[in-house]
Amino acid sequence: MISQAHATAAAVSTAGVELHYGATPVLKGIDISLSKGKTLALLGPSGCGKTTLLRLVAGLLAPTKGSIAIAGQMVADAAGGTFAPPEKRNLGMVFQDYALWPHLTVGGNVSFPLEMRGLGKAERQSRTMRALERVGLAAYTDRRPSDLSGGQQQRVAIARAIVAEPQLILFDEPLSNLDRELRENMVGELAELIATLGLTAIYVTHDHSEALTLADEVAVMRSGLIEQLASPDELIARPATPEVADFLRLGGIAEVEYRDGLWVFKDSNVALLRKASATDGAARVLLPVGAISVGAIEPGRLAATVLRSQFRGDGHLATISLVGTSDIELQVLSRVKLRPGEGIGLSIDPDQILWFDEKVHSSKEESLEHA
Ligand SMILES: Nc1ncnc2c1ncn2[C@@H]1O[C@H](COP(=O)(O)OP(=O)(O)O)[C@@H](O)[C@H]1O
Ligand SMILES: [Mg+2]
Repeated sequence: MISQAHATAAAVSTAGVELHYGATPVLKGIDISLSKGKTLALLGPSGCGKTTLLRLVAGLLAPTKGSIAIAGQMVADAAGGTFAPPEKRNLGMVFQDYALWPHLTVGGNVSFPLEMRGLGKAERQSRTMRALERVGLAAYTDRRPSDLSGGQQQRVAIARAIVAEPQLILFDEPLSNLDRELRENMVGELAELIATLGLTAIYVTHDHSEALTLADEVAVMRSGLIEQLASPDELIARPATPEVADFLRLGGIAEVEYRDGLWVFKDSNVALLRKASATDGAARVLLPVGAISVGAIEPGRLAATVLRSQFRGDGHLATISLVGTSDIELQVLSRVKLRPGEGIGLSIDPDQILWFDEKVHSSKEESLEHA
């Protein structure tokens, strides 16, 4: 039986899932629904509950409340007492620490899930070779995992996860043990593999660029809740809260106040822009990196001081502080190298500013002019 809360077409869905450790709530009501062939990223800071949610889907934990369905089958339901163990859920899993068996060869590791399913030797061998070919390791069948680099070991773990062609693959920070360059290459490779094989996947990460690269949908999590669940394009264009925008590193967040016809940065006399349609109010704004252009200090530009700067591939990404404000920091992209302590001038495109929780008592422009 499937409840109304689960769309029967979904490859995996959760309805009102809560998980408590003793009296401590770790997940506080999670609703997700993922279509077949899609990848969902669970993105959020350490400790927000990503691994816990993945373990619930895997069947390594049972929910305190709520239910989980995979391919239209109820696999866990706290109210009804339903619980299918991991081996009944037809899943592949890839973990941060690879979890390969050191005493088995690469081929032995990859074919293990097929042995568990009782497949014959010839079938096991051909499927194992195919999975190893897909991750570019066909020549390594007889090696031990310890002879391989970290990146190769993780490819073996991926081959093992896909060898039985499971209906769903769960990844828990699979790249976080690799060094940066390898990680960046493997994100692209993994995205390609997921697309080529048409996998349905849930991918846990604390890295916003991994999530935005790999996933069709991203659930941004914070303290046991999903703050926003949307496509990467939607998240970047319309982050639901300043916290989401900040976590995705979309730019700087600032508090602003409306005074005397101007929006000024909080506790300062530095104006962000002139807007004659409000009488007073307060808001938080996202100033996206792309909305700010950098130049010399000139009248009409905001004065700023460079705090630090890092080359990023398409320019120097600098964190700057706005002169005259207490502690407002923004990110800007500059073609020329910026040095700590250097003074610069900023222009901000008002059309690209995103406004959050704006509390404005609007009045007509005419009344402002009479005032
Ligand atoms: N077995 C456990 N017993 C008690 N608390 C736990 C247990 N496992 C995880 N937690 C707590 O649950 C929260 C979420 O953990 P986790 O899902 O591992 O977070 P994430 O994967 O997002 O870093 C953390 O505060 C963690 O300390
Ligand atoms: Mg985790």
